[in-house]
Amino acid sequence: MKISVISLFLATSAVVAQGSNLFTGPDESTTLDPRTGATCGDVSDLAPFAELYIPSETAHIYTIYNNNVTSVFTNPGTQYLGIVALIFSIQDPSTVPFYCLRNNAATAWLYTANETERSTALASGYMELFTAGYIYPSQICGSVPLYRLHLLGANSDYIYTTSVTDRENAITSGFTYEGIAGYVYDLLSCEVFHARTEFLI
Ligand SMILES: *[C@@H]1O[C@H](CO)[C@@H](O)[C@H](O)[C@H]1NC(C)=O
Ligand SMILES: *[C@@H]1O[C@H](CO)[C@@H](O)[C@H](O)[C@H]1NC(C)=O
Repeated sequence: MKISVISLFLATSAVVAQGSNLFTGPDESTTLDPRTGATCGDVSDLAPFAELYIPSETAHIYTIYNNNVTSVFTNPGTQYLGIVALIFSIQDPSTVPFYCLRNNAATAWLYTANETERSTALASGYMELFTAGYIYPSQICGSVPLYRLHLLGANSDYIYTTSVTDRENAITSGFTYEGIAGYVYDLLSCEVFHARTEFLI
């Protein structure tokens, strides 16, 4: 499910209203309590991970940075698709960098937290653009999987989503499911009322 900035704001307001009713589900674990701060990131460092699509490049692009949105929109036909997740804007406890690499030949934007894959990609034609943010390498602190899908072919493309429905729809439309890129928050998985609702500079 993709969520616009406006509905993000509305949803975060709803979370505030729910208050302490969060985290009362069966998955709650005292060792993974998101409020301890010992092993979890600070939710106030989360930022919306926005998804854009450049049809001429068949490329999905994800960013927490407003300047990326501005520069991507210089490509004619660029579509803003919404917020796919909340990720850390700085390297909080237990998080790892989520690198953004680009292959100019294939016009693919690859996001990975896997250092081995990053090295392999850099050695095979990708260049590193920036660190997209920081994510958990394992499912802790109430985080949810960020699924990765890959459109194989000359005009390669990667999709990242927390939505099982979106994942299955992408598979139906020809993408290959490649696994979990890391663990992030979505609006239902996190006590997000301190999260930023605007882009970073
Ligand atoms: C995206 O933003 C990052 C962080 O400000 C910057 O380093 C990078 O050059 C930007 N890339 C594009 C394509 O806008
Ligand atoms: C990281 O990537 C390498 C090579 O692409 C792969 O063999 C390895 O299983 C990956 N590690 C994780 C934790 O996914």
